[in-house]
Parts: sequence; structure tokens; C-alpha cells
Amino acid sequence: MDIATIPHPPRRVPVIGDVVGIKVGKPVQTVLAQSRGLGPISVRKVLRTQIVTVGGADLAGDLSDESRFCKFVGLHLPPLRQVVGDALFTAEDDEPNWQLAHDILAPAFTREAMSGYHAVMLEVARELLARWDAAADRGQPVDVTPDTTRLTMETIGRTGFGYRFASFDRDEPHPFVVAMTRALHYARVSAVLPWAPVRRLVAGSAAQHDADVATLRGTVDQVIRARLDDPASDAPDLLGRMLRTAHPGTGDRLDPVNIRHQMITFLVAGHETTSGALSFALYYLTRDQGALARAQAEVDALWGETADPEPAFADVAKLRYVRAALDEALRLWPTAPGYLRAARCDTVLGGRYRMNEGDWALVFLPLLHRDPQVWPDPDRFDPDRFGAGQAKSRPAHAYKPFGTGKRSCIGRQFALHEAVLALGLILHRYALTAPEAYELQIAESLTLKPRGFRLLPRRRR
Ligand code: HEM
Repeated sequence: MDIATIPHPPRRVPVIGDVVGIKVGKPVQTVLAQSRGLGPISVRKVLRTQIVTVGGADLAGDLSDESRFCKFVGLHLPPLRQVVGDALFTAEDDEPNWQLAHDILAPAFTREAMSGYHAVMLEVARELLARWDAAADRGQPVDVTPDTTRLTMETIGRTGFGYRFASFDRDEPHPFVVAMTRALHYARVSAVLPWAPVRRLVAGSAAQHDADVATLRGTVDQVIRARLDDPASDAPDLLGRMLRTAHPGTGDRLDPVNIRHQMITFLVAGHETTSGALSFALYYLTRDQGALARAQAEVDALWGETADPEPAFADVAKLRYVRAALDEALRLWPTAPGYLRAARCDTVLGGRYRMNEGDWALVFLPLLHRDPQVWPDPDRFDPDRFGAGQAKSRPAHAYKPFGTGKRSCIGRQFALHEAVLALGLILHRYALTAPEAYELQIAESLTLKPRGFRLLPRRRR
């Protein structure tokens, strides 16, 4: 890529490049701070890798042109690919298994399909409420992110595969979650630290990683075997679909190894992003009494004074302000903070930056979502930005928390239904107070999440 005209951060150092000033454990936050001074496009050299970061709505819009750009499975994705192969998230655009899996699974993620998951989502949300009730009775605060993670892990496990992680019954995370967290950290570190001794120090040994991957595979293989051993089971969930459905056009089916990889992918992709979004929404709402009061007025108007409402599937779409608060939280902290696109041919980005076939760029969402040309006072939490008709007044590609085009998030409707339902129920049930002294800290892994954020719940009824 023609990078001579693209600004880079100050203090570039020979050989290592632009790593000075990137805070350990906070690459997203430091790159955001740096990039805001550099403009809608900047470049960072990290050892031999040049990372072009795009955060302007026009340039992101241009990268959404699928006739010229495709998903780039590079940077942090190859180490993940070693774990889940050509499953949906890590496949190249033109790999046959991507199209096959996409076509087989897409019907399971339509808005209508969500009605089939609603009852289980509600069941799991009530388990979270029971946990918070117990804390409220003791007058104790709750740890928000670990609890929303329990909720989302349990929801995807039960709705997708009929598997219970029993997340609310254990104090420590399920071994699958421990292995997954460590394996993702290892994969992420391997992407930037090729030297084994240093990598071992930061992310543990290769042997530990192998053991973690074996735990992931062993767990899902057990679930698949149990399903296959039960000829009576015709559960219409994701696993049932993958095992039984042939491609509508070709008649092809997913092979067993691919099914295993898809399951791990769904468990990973299907929980951390949603729990982070829910936690950020709770953080911002409890910091903004006006917004909190409006959200609570909305849920009260829908569910009234009953302490234990019976939300219908259609209720979730009626919670417009709650949804706007979630959208706004995802604007400020898009929990999947970026995606990569590569040029399919020699082209010019934004009419100005020459790219050769194969050159790639990172669409950096925290920056895109704070483009001051599009979002006035961009750091302010304001759910009204997502009020009726507002989106039409913005450029089409200014807001992309779920990615873009055919490689955008297949689980978008799933995440939104699950999160709005849970958030609505929490707001209906509790008066929530956050310790005054808490300042938002963000844990960065593959995703972003609030760290150390606690709330004191008190029953409203
Ligand atoms: C708030 C929650 C979520 C956010 C912010 C989010 C974000 C994203 C983004 C940005 C991408 C595109 C990545 C890229 O282009 O490289 C993506 C892809 C994907 N997401 Fe999500 N996601 C969320 C929830 C979910 C859920 C609940 C599931 C599954 C149940 C899921 C499954 C996937 C899969 C399988 C892909 C790959 C799709 C493909 O390339 O065909 N996500 N997600």
C-alpha cells in the first residue's frame, strides 16, 4: 500500500517501529487516543508488519465495497484459525465451507428464528435475576461483567447446542471457559510475538495451549456424541441444523470436523461480545440518571408493577429506548473493536490511497464511531442518537459494530434480542447504584469489556 502519505504516530523507532507509547494490555485504547490526533487513516509499523488503521466514515464505506475488498484473514486471525480452521469467523471469503456453513446456518439467525430461542433466553435471564436478588437481599454488590458473561455463555450453550455450562451454579468459570480464555489470549499474543520464550512468559507454554485446545475440542465432541447417540433427539437448534441439514442448492453437508469448529466458534463469538455490550450499557445507564429514568419508564410502561413480568417475544422490539442505550454503548465501545479488509485487485482507497491486490487495512471501530464529522460531541453517551429516523441522517457506514457485508455478524439478531431482553428485565427489577469512585476500566482481549465494574442492586418492587 502506498503508505508514504499516511500519517504515523510520533516516536517511530528503527526495527521495532511504532510500539513506543502503546500501553501493555491496552492496545485498543492507546491506538484510539493516538489515532484521534492523526485523522481518519494512520499507519503503524510493528516489527515487520504495517497496520493501516481506518476510522473515517468515507474510507470505511469504501472498504465495504465487496467488489473491491474481501475479509482479510490475517493479523490476529491465523492463530485462531489453527484452533477452528475454516469455520465461519476464520474462513476466507472464497473457501467452500464458508458458503456452505453460511447457507445452512443463516436461517437459524433470522429475526423470526429468534422466537424459537426466546423462552430459553428468558429462562437464563431469570437465573441472572435470581443471583442478583440474592445479592440484593444481602445488601451486596454484584460483579457485572462476570455475571453478564455467565448469562451469555449459558444462553448460547443452551439455545445452540442444548448444553448447560451451569454457569450460575459455580463460583469459578466452567473449564471450557477457562481453556477458551487462555487459548484466545495465547492466539492473540502469538500474532504479535513470534519468539517462543517471550510468548511463553506472556501467554503460557505451547503445551498448555495444546491442552486448552484439547479441552475445547473434547467438550464439544462430547456434546456432539451425546446428540448422535440419542436417535430421538430432533432439537431444532444450531447443532441439530448442522448435523441434519443439507445445503438447499448442492445437497452438501458440513463434515464432522467443521461442525466441531463451528461449535467452538459460536461459543466464543456468541458470548464475550454480547456480555461486554450489556455491561457497557449498564455502566453508561447508571452514570446517566436521566437516561436510566427514561429506560425504566419504558420497561415500566410495558410490564407494569408486577414484580415478575412474563415478557413476550414481541415485547423486546417495543423496548426502543433500551435498545438505543445498547446501540449507543456499542458505539462508544464496540466490543469487537475492528475488522480487516484486503484489496481483491489493485485499487485506490477513498480516491487517494493506492492499494495493490492483497494490501489490507483495519477498520478500527472505536475511532469510526467517534468520527467528529458524524457524531457531534462523540464521547458523550446519548441514546437519542439512535432515536427513530436518526440513522438516516448519517452516512451509511458510520456505525458498524457488527461488521459489514456478507461477512458481517451472523449472530446480530441473536445478540440484540438476548441483550435487550436481559437489560429490560434488569432495569425493571432493580434500582442500581454504582460506586461513585469507579472509573471505567476496560479489559482488552479479543473483545472489550468493563473491568471491575460493580453495581448495588435493590429490588424496586
Ligand atoms: C454484541 C454482540 C456481538 C458483536 C458486537 C459482534 C460483532 C461481530 C463482528 C464485528 C463480526 C465481523 C468480523 C469480521 O468481519 O471479521 C462478527 C462476525 C461473526 N459473529 Fe458476531 N458479534 C456479536 C454477537 C455474536 C453472536 C451472539 C454470535 C453467535 C450466536 C456471533 C457469531 C458471529 C460469527 C459466526 C461471525 C462470523 C460471520 C461470517 O464471517 O460469516 N456474534 N461479529
